[in-house]
Amino acid sequence: MTFKVEVLGLGYIGLPTAAIIASNNIPVIGIDVKQDVVNIVNRGNIHIIEPELEGLVKSVVDKKLLKAQLQPEPADVFIIAIPTPFMDDYHPDVTFVENAIESILPYIREGNLIIIESTCPVGTTEHMAERIFRRNPELKDKIFIAYCPERVLPGNVIYELVHNDRIVGGIDAISTQKAFDFYKLFIKGGIHQTNARTAEMCKLVENSFRDVNIAFANELSIICDKANINVWELIKLANYHPRVNILQPGTGVGGHCIAVDPWFLISEFSDESILIKTARQRNLYKTKWVINKITNEISNFGRKPIVAFMGLSFKPNIDDIRESPALEVFNHFYRTNLCTCLAVEPNLQKLEDIPLSAYDVAIEQADIIVFLVAHNVFKNLKISENKKILDFCGVRTQKE
Ligand SMILES: NC(=O)c1ccc[n+]([C@@H]2O[C@H](COP(=O)([O-])OP(=O)(O)OC[C@H]3O[C@@H](n4cnc5c(N)ncnc54)[C@H](O)[C@@H]3O)[C@@H](O)[C@H]2O)c1
Repeated sequence: MTFKVEVLGLGYIGLPTAAIIASNNIPVIGIDVKQDVVNIVNRGNIHIIEPELEGLVKSVVDKKLLKAQLQPEPADVFIIAIPTPFMDDYHPDVTFVENAIESILPYIREGNLIIIESTCPVGTTEHMAERIFRRNPELKDKIFIAYCPERVLPGNVIYELVHNDRIVGGIDAISTQKAFDFYKLFIKGGIHQTNARTAEMCKLVENSFRDVNIAFANELSIICDKANINVWELIKLANYHPRVNILQPGTGVGGHCIAVDPWFLISEFSDESILIKTARQRNLYKTKWVINKITNEISNFGRKPIVAFMGLSFKPNIDDIRESPALEVFNHFYRTNLCTCLAVEPNLQKLEDIPLSAYDVAIEQADIIVFLVAHNVFKNLKISENKKILDFCGVRTQKE
């Protein structure tokens, strides 16, 4: 029987993972609950923006190495790459993971390896193992379950997925070993073995580290604004110190990882994670601060201005708007009657019912131009001197 991998969730992580595994001549079934995602992938197309992914998906679909479908089926390895959002009270919502595990329960067989790649609160992999063994006690000690977090950079996923170092942690030593052996089939980076809890914590800590350090940069940007100092110049100068490496400030912190994962720690270790929580709050505050600065500019304008909001994704050069602070800023003004809003996001074809403007048209039409995301195409734009420019991402003022 042919060795077969099943990837549950064909999103930003699951689809590239499925395609890379398939490109190693390993048959992959991709499972997604969305019919349109299944249809798009089976046509050899993709439903997200990620360089090089479409060509890879097309090639493995054409070779019949990747097939998408709604319903799981038996396989040798199951990879769970489905969302783990948080709820309104910032507690993690692992019901998607639970549902994905439920959906494969009828198909799990002796010798199977189940890997959770979704970002999860500490202890989730053990809980999922208990869930499986409660329902299928005969599988105890006969299957392997591990956690392996993903740490790719959107926009560079195809390279990083293969070349980044990975952490694998099983619910027992043999599960760790099985996961290690599996990733060895297609990962060129180092693969580091630990237990499931440490691997889960590792992912949360990595993103909390980034959140805390971005909060420092964002706080500096607010201080520098008051002190009339260019924060990007300041950071560049400070970073000439051999042991200083300050990150870049921005409109806030967005995306599905850095803005989300620290809450998984805070909600479980609330008394112990004071710094992490404060950093999260500082980054949320930065977006409110940006809104206040724009509001003041509009109030001082004298009439209702046309404002171009440049960039709506959560970071430069991608189409992902999840938890995007730039979108939060835009939506705030779009809902009010303070100004005429022009939405500019060159990485998106459409944004629900909001009309998008081309950036060159927007900078012609607008009275106030607000840079929220440092997209490459915004660099070196020629803007006439009578326009008011607010740059919250350093795309205009960052000096090379
Ligand atoms: N996007 C990133 O850069 C990134 C990086 C590292 C880790 N992660 C983590 O990886 C996980 C997946 O993130 P993503 O960005 O790929 O999410 P995504 O929203 O892009 O994709 C998830 C897909 O899973 C599907 N899905 C939901 N429930 C399902 C189920 N029960 N069975 C099958 N499919 C189901 C959805 O329809 C969707 O297409 C999350 O836990 C995230 O935190 C993401």
